Amino acid sequence: MPRHFLNLFDVSTDDLEQLLADAARLKAARKRGIPAHSLSGRVVGLVFEKPSLRTRVSFEAGVAQLGGTSLFLPGNEVGLGWRESLADFARTMGRFVDIIVLRVFRQTTVDGIAEWAGVPVINGLSDREHPCQALADLQTIIEQFGTVAGKTITFVGDGNNVSMSLAVGVAKLGGQFVLACPAGYEFDAEFQKRFRSELPSVPFPKTVNDPIAGVRNADVIYTDVWTSMGQEAEREERLKRFADFQINAALMAQAPPQARLLHCLPAHRGEEVTDEVIDGPQSVVFDQAENRLHAQKAVLEWVREQ
Ligand code: CP
Ligand code: NVA
Repeated sequence: MPRHFLNLFDVSTDDLEQLLADAARLKAARKRGIPAHSLSGRVVGLVFEKPSLRTRVSFEAGVAQLGGTSLFLPGNEVGLGWRESLADFARTMGRFVDIIVLRVFRQTTVDGIAEWAGVPVINGLSDREHPCQALADLQTIIEQFGTVAGKTITFVGDGNNVSMSLAVGVAKLGGQFVLACPAGYEFDAEFQKRFRSELPSVPFPKTVNDPIAGVRNADVIYTDVWTSMGQEAEREERLKRFADFQINAALMAQAPPQARLLHCLPAHRGEEVTDEVIDGPQSVVFDQAENRLHAQKAVLEWVREQ
């Protein structure tokens, strides 16, 4: 069975810690200019149904830095799920490439391809998961604070792909995750059920409907766009509902002075975050973006090992 990276529920805490240690090692090696060959002779196929800057470029650059080759296929070009069945697509791709990276609308597409491909599948974002982002986020938190354990990470936004994946990673490493959102935008029932059944001994993330209460004890304040890709029809409604949840100087003033700002990017400046905060001294969003490269190189080596 190939080893996949589809979500953080399936990654043990030991493996998560190993991946983060490897990400730090790969970052240091790149800064020192040490060449790597761990993907020599391997081909990584990227299939993306949605736009991307960070995920696509960091994977393509990371594969090249590890001595491998990548190819990029827009989802509409291959007709994912409609030109032929997902199973036929997966079984064919798996004969050509060594690793598949997917960015798709539905998590069921990721899971379906993983079931049939016969090669490792890495989830580069779906409607329910963004585990590559979460790994880079955890790496960034460790760089800032030395640890995730005992730290409070407050996500100001909705219970979306980014917050669901990060909540699992934070919980596995002993941190406290808080979701600050308007009523009705909490983690959905499917996530709650899975979290409680797969992580029974870990406290369920806290939810607050007041942004000030959310940031008051936060070490990390994290935000994301209020309307994720695929939810465009809800944009006007969400702009209204999230208006009081903007990360601005007034809200940052309610947080402890050591608090750091994270954002997965792309940012909608002037909506979920103001220029003065995202460009201010507490923001580490570009270190966080850089860490996508190092964290994903660790994931590529980890799935290749099997
Ligand atoms: N954060 C992130 O996944 O960015 P892209 O959508 O640009 O890949
Ligand atoms: N939640 C956002 C993340 C983008 C990287 C989205 O899915 O559009």
